Amino acid sequence: MLFSSILGLAVSATCAAAASLQQVSNFGANPTNIRMYIYVPDNVSANPAIIVALHPCGGNGQQWFSGTSLPSYADSNGFILIYPETPNQSNCWDVHNVASLTHNGGGDAQGIVNMVNYALEQHNGDASSVYVMGFSSGGMMTNVLAGSYPDVFAAGAAFSGTPHACFFGAPGSTPFSSNQTCAQGISHTPEQWGAFVRNSYPGYDGPRPRMQIWHGTADALVRPACADEALKQWSNVLDAPWSQNNTGVPSGQYTQIMYGDGTALQGYFGNGVGHQPQGNEDLMLRFFGILA
Ligand SMILES: *[C@@H]1O[C@H](CO)[C@@H](O)[C@H](O)[C@H]1NC(C)=O
Ligand SMILES: *[C@@H]1O[C@H](CO)[C@@H](O)[C@H](O)[C@H]1NC(C)=O
Ligand SMILES: *[C@@H]1O[C@H](CO)[C@@H](O)[C@H](O)[C@H]1NC(C)=O
Ligand SMILES: *[C@@H]1O[C@H](CO)[C@@H](O)[C@H](O)[C@H]1NC(C)=O
Repeated sequence: MLFSSILGLAVSATCAAAASLQQVSNFGANPTNIRMYIYVPDNVSANPAIIVALHPCGGNGQQWFSGTSLPSYADSNGFILIYPETPNQSNCWDVHNVASLTHNGGGDAQGIVNMVNYALEQHNGDASSVYVMGFSSGGMMTNVLAGSYPDVFAAGAAFSGTPHACFFGAPGSTPFSSNQTCAQGISHTPEQWGAFVRNSYPGYDGPRPRMQIWHGTADALVRPACADEALKQWSNVLDAPWSQNNTGVPSGQYTQIMYGDGTALQGYFGNGVGHQPQGNEDLMLRFFGILA
């Protein structure tokens, strides 16, 4: 089901649940003063998976909590949702500063990782099942976190975002700042994009997050070329070569782009879809490994 078509459903489902979104103030070092909200379902698992869900520019934790049906999936599957919130840069995530693009370098990225560590400790979370997803600025930050913290995230899903380090060298992180080079489609070779990720955590040679990349072909704010570039990046980092395109997957206007057998990397392009929340929670949760 598409995010955009389930808004009403998600709200009624979460109203019926006893658990609610809670703010956490002291979750650890928070270099950029961002905020943490958490949703722990009543029926939380003994060793729960954790999904970080990142709002778009102009958004907030509560808004994105209502923006997908993930809370009702958390109710029925026992995982925890973290909704970080940034007050800065028109509520856009910091994806251009070196701090966020460097492992343990500070920035919004470090604050978010400390939220994850807090949830792992407080709720006996499963450190091998930590995921990140987000739309627009949240999709950009998803790729940043997957690049800078490969030791934290097992998989990510970026919706209408940009590659890791795409905004590096720009004066701000918004797709409407003076420098729109990234959002309008900056091109690098797969090797160059891959080097940005590897240079974020020099010496790291463990597993990398498996990635899903979603974009609308009619997106004029963050061009679909950004998804092509993100797929080049992760194809290089994950050593997953393109294998085939499947039109009509998961539904009519979408094309699924497969890399290898699709275990490590998949892309989805919505034909004629603009800059809007889109995606398929079921497909994402199966890719993560939360749903069988
Ligand atoms: C974000 O905003 C907070 C509160 O205004 C401020 O303390 C912090 O320095 C800002 N961070 C960035 C990266 O601008
Ligand atoms: C509670 O969660 C478990 C898995 O964690 C699931 O099997 C069960 O159906 C859930 N119960 C309800 C009432 O959602
Ligand atoms: C604009 O931003 C891009 C990164 O998105 C950067 O490579 C480029 O140097 C920047 N241009 C200027 C003039 O700041
Ligand atoms: C597969 O889809 C991608 C993204 O739309 C496109 O760039 C590429 O040309 C397609 N490849 C083939 C062989 O159709």
